[in-house]
Amino acid sequence: MSQHVESYQDEIYLTGMTGTVPDFPTDLTRLEEAARSAMTPQAYDYVAGSAGGEDTARENLAAFRRWRIVPRMLTDVSRPSYASTVLGTELTVPFMLAPVGVLAIAHKEAEIAVARAAAAQRVPMILSTASSTAMEEVAAANGDGQRWYQLYWPKDRAVAASLLGRAQAAGYSVLVVTLDTRILAWRPRDLANGYLPFLRGIGIQNYVSDPAFQASLAGADSDEAAVLRWTQIFGDMSLTWDDLPFVRQHWNGPIVLKGILSASDALRAAAAGLDGIIVSNHGGRQLDGEIGALDALPAVADAVGGRLTVLFDSGIRGGADILKALALGAQAVLVGRPYVYGLALGGEAGVRHVLRALRQDFELAMRLSGLASLSDVSPDCLQRRPGAGPTGAG
Ligand SMILES: Cc1cc2nc3c(=O)[nH]c(=O)nc-3n(C[C@H](O)[C@H](O)[C@H](O)COP(=O)(O)O)c2cc1C
Repeated sequence: MSQHVESYQDEIYLTGMTGTVPDFPTDLTRLEEAARSAMTPQAYDYVAGSAGGEDTARENLAAFRRWRIVPRMLTDVSRPSYASTVLGTELTVPFMLAPVGVLAIAHKEAEIAVARAAAAQRVPMILSTASSTAMEEVAAANGDGQRWYQLYWPKDRAVAASLLGRAQAAGYSVLVVTLDTRILAWRPRDLANGYLPFLRGIGIQNYVSDPAFQASLAGADSDEAAVLRWTQIFGDMSLTWDDLPFVRQHWNGPIVLKGILSASDALRAAAAGLDGIIVSNHGGRQLDGEIGALDALPAVADAVGGRLTVLFDSGIRGGADILKALALGAQAVLVGRPYVYGLALGGEAGVRHVLRALRQDFELAMRLSGLASLSDVSPDCLQRRPGAGPTGAG
């Protein structure tokens, strides 16, 4: 058995001796299927669904299958350490929680349960602007946990500045600016269900709790007025690279751009003085037909890896996936849907399970690959699956 002090694997097998088995799936690829029965059909479709024919969502997963790990034998992995520091945030394992909005549709404790589980497991969380709980309440539940704030940059600059000020005051240390969602994509499942949580007042809690947003309502303080105003200011299709100084001016700390998929945009981010980027296609929820996120990673990492922090999401479903993303140039990854399914299945306990299982699965994948630290990971750890075409690896 593993000698790791916090071995979830050991705990599960030992508990199994008394006839007790885990409450939640240990095969993390089965979380989606298990969560389905715990959610309303509309909520399940909102989380599991993607844009268009979901071609990019499938491609995100397929891109991982095209890379295979080549393990090394007889290296000393008796005392591994996979700790790192990313933009001042300490990671014991190289993953964080991706910003996912409207979590109240998955579980009544929503972001509060996630914030508690993340703090308990020492996994940093990124809170969405579209959260269903106000950021100050989430911060209180997260306690001395590490947290970042994700901005959906609203059209109303007074609201944007106010959100950033509140996030800093509530202890969010890094700003993530999501670029790929200035409008919502064509999402057939949600359209077929006629279901958009925001219009039902779910996911606008950071807005309605905001003084600048309230001021913009000019006294029209009904729920309908708030939702209507939200639809007017949610996204700004006129934003360009020239607008980035605004966030720099209003945020005192590292800033990361989420949704970068090309080396040229990554170079622009570096030139614009950003601190990091997240290679992501929003889990295939925005532009259907676009490149699988993992396929975008090597060229981006080659272009800016030495200058910017490069993070990755879209398609992480297990420990081996994290290893692969690191080998292709990411410093750490974001986990999205899997923890939402954990939340749906068991609230805080469900999220804790997913975080513990993922940590253990990652640590075992690393040790079984002969890798004792993150600095041991390189493109040489991977090989393209036969017939999968050119590597593109840097
Ligand atoms: C239900 C749902 C809501 C999301 N909400 C946000 C959000 O509010 N802000 C954001 O930047 N990304 C959001 N994302 C995208 C995630 O941050 C992340 O990029 C994505 O989940 C990665 O894909 P994966 O979950 O398939 O691995 C959301 C994703 C899902 C599934």
